[in-house]
Amino acid sequence: MDKNIIDTKELTIGVVGLGLMGCSICTCLLMAGHPVIAVAPIPDDLLHAEKRILGHLKKLKEEQVIERDPSAYFQKCTITEDYSRLKGCYLVIECTLENIDIKKTVFQKIEAVVAKTCLLASNTSAIPITMLQEQTAHPKRFFGLHWAEPSYISRFLEVICGEQSDVLLGESLYELSHYWGKEPTLVRKDIRGFITNRLMYAMYREAIHLVENGYATVEDVDRACRNNPGYWMTLVGVFRWMDLTGVPAYHTVMKDLFPTLANTTAVPKLIDDIVSAGGKGVSNAKGFHTYSPAEAKLWEETFMEFSYEIRKLAAKYPEDVVKKKMSAKNKK
Ligand SMILES: NC(=O)c1ccc[n+]([C@@H]2O[C@H](COP(=O)([O-])OP(=O)(O)OC[C@H]3O[C@@H](n4cnc5c(N)ncnc54)[C@H](O)[C@@H]3O)[C@@H](O)[C@H]2O)c1
Repeated sequence: MDKNIIDTKELTIGVVGLGLMGCSICTCLLMAGHPVIAVAPIPDDLLHAEKRILGHLKKLKEEQVIERDPSAYFQKCTITEDYSRLKGCYLVIECTLENIDIKKTVFQKIEAVVAKTCLLASNTSAIPITMLQEQTAHPKRFFGLHWAEPSYISRFLEVICGEQSDVLLGESLYELSHYWGKEPTLVRKDIRGFITNRLMYAMYREAIHLVENGYATVEDVDRACRNNPGYWMTLVGVFRWMDLTGVPAYHTVMKDLFPTLANTTAVPKLIDDIVSAGGKGVSNAKGFHTYSPAEAKLWEETFMEFSYEIRKLAAKYPEDVVKKKMSAKNKK
């Protein structure tokens, strides 16, 4: 696909699964101008999907991220239980529960109606793409599309190729996702957890290790994260950070620090205890921190408020910010 001639209006995209992420992804695709076929695999989705998507669009309008009325975007959205409506789709994104059996059934229903050329993707967080594509009839056209919440605001997207994926098609998805406001990453070779989950889980393991072994409290670890990596990560990634602050120091520290880092392969007790007691986090006010229900709700709202703020800041500092500054200087 030539990135200069993509007309999003001409490319209908299907989203199957209209929970938290499915509705967010539909919103993002509608903002980008695509007609969207939103398939509800369970009747419960029909009760919430329209309200959720319209709610996101209304907030986006209030925040002046979109110009037209929410209805102008929403009119391109078809919410249906009927898989056959996916027939003319260019791409279908599966966004159902993180369960391989459920996903397999959903892929079969999608593949029964779409054209052989239709691209198929899953928003799985952690199931290897190679494993998922083995459940499909045409594994070459299958990819991971890993989004992050709120999907219609965040710049994050990983396009992941499985062992059997056609990398050229992966590149075309990568190009297309720029039209969705993303700064995407193409993962050319499948690896469990992709990129950010691998990085983040190394950090979660170390954070839990520090707390379980009495070096710091949950509050202290969170405060350190917010004020050190949280300070610079929207501008630069880990490699540019090492460049900015001096590579040799990292070389020296790695030698002594690496052997002391947590490397347990078992799920730590701290998180196991929370989950065994039914804790989910802010959604039921039971997590690593303690919350009253009102506080938990306010954390959710504050996260959304912050997402819009950081989006504005991030827009001032795109990946090529320095390149742009260089060419502006050279023109003078
Ligand atoms: N929540 C996140 O932040 C996040 C981030 C990245 C990826 N993901 C991935 O996105 C996918 C969806 O996650 P979510 O957070 O939207 O979950 P969710 O619980 O909000 O939604 C799940 C959806 O799955 C579908 N579903 C439920 N039971 C089904 C069944 N028996 N058959 C077919 N479909 C069924 C429904 O559409 C339901 O709304 C998962 O694979 C998850 O790992 C989630």
